[in-house]
Amino acid sequence: MSPSEPRYTRTAIALHWIVAALVLAQVAWGWLMQEIPKQPPGLRADAFNVHKSIGATIFALMLVRLGWRLVHRPPPLPETLPRWQRRAARINHLLLYAALFTMPIAGYLGSVFSGYPVKLYGFVMPAWGWRDEAIKNAMSLVHLVTSFVLVTAIGVHVAAVVRHTLGDRGALLARMLARRGERDAHDRLSRRPTRAA
Ligand code: HEM
Ligand code: HEM
Repeated sequence: MSPSEPRYTRTAIALHWIVAALVLAQVAWGWLMQEIPKQPPGLRADAFNVHKSIGATIFALMLVRLGWRLVHRPPPLPETLPRWQRRAARINHLLLYAALFTMPIAGYLGSVFSGYPVKLYGFVMPAWGWRDEAIKNAMSLVHLVTSFVLVTAIGVHVAAVVRHTLGDRGALLARMLARRGERDAHDRLSRRPTRAA
């Protein structure tokens, strides 16, 4: 890949890695926090509030990311990739976006209808909901099922990137790395093969 070839913008790259790091932490925390005993009170609620606050942050970042993406079209995948792989990548990216919007929305609605006030970064949010077991359970189920979809999509995504990185000396990965990575990939691709030892 030459340095002049289309690539993700710096903003898209920054958003990708910040969201990726937050999402991995959020998924792990989402499971761990439920192991905290309900007694003595406080610790478990604090852990849930941290999860809710980070979830809201991911939602806000995803809104910015979607807006940015609509205005800055991502670089087309290289024509050298088989057509089915380009299509699979597009579908998986769409799935990742959909899951990253569904998770915080379902989590928030589930919390609103649990009857407890939703606290984000220590601030109590307006309590416009009421206690409703049916809605709460439905939203918890959506949250849980979507978390499996999300983790599967991330697994496929990372496996595909690693597979390509091994095959193309990092050219595809460089599209989502800061400029130095791109130059390195270019150097690696343009380097002449060394004499066999
Ligand atoms: C929680 C983890 C992750 C999530 C949610 C995620 C999500 C996404 C999404 C949605 C896109 C499409 C961007 C767009 O078109 O707007 C993307 C692209 C990309 N991601 Fe990730 N990602 C994650 C982790 C990773 C990791 C660990 C790697 C590296 C091993 C990686 C490498 C890439 C690359 C190279 C692209 C660009 C693919 C291309 O050239 O079109 N991602 N990611
Ligand atoms: C992208 C954002 C989010 C991710 C990746 C995420 C991930 C998870 C995961 C993996 C679990 C454990 C599986 C489960 O029981 O569902 C969980 C549980 C939970 N999450 Fe989230 N979450 C996110 C956002 C939120 C938000 C914004 C809220 C509330 C405002 C929230 C509230 C909860 C609650 C209350 C639970 C405990 C189980 C339940 O009552 O449904 N989550 N989350």
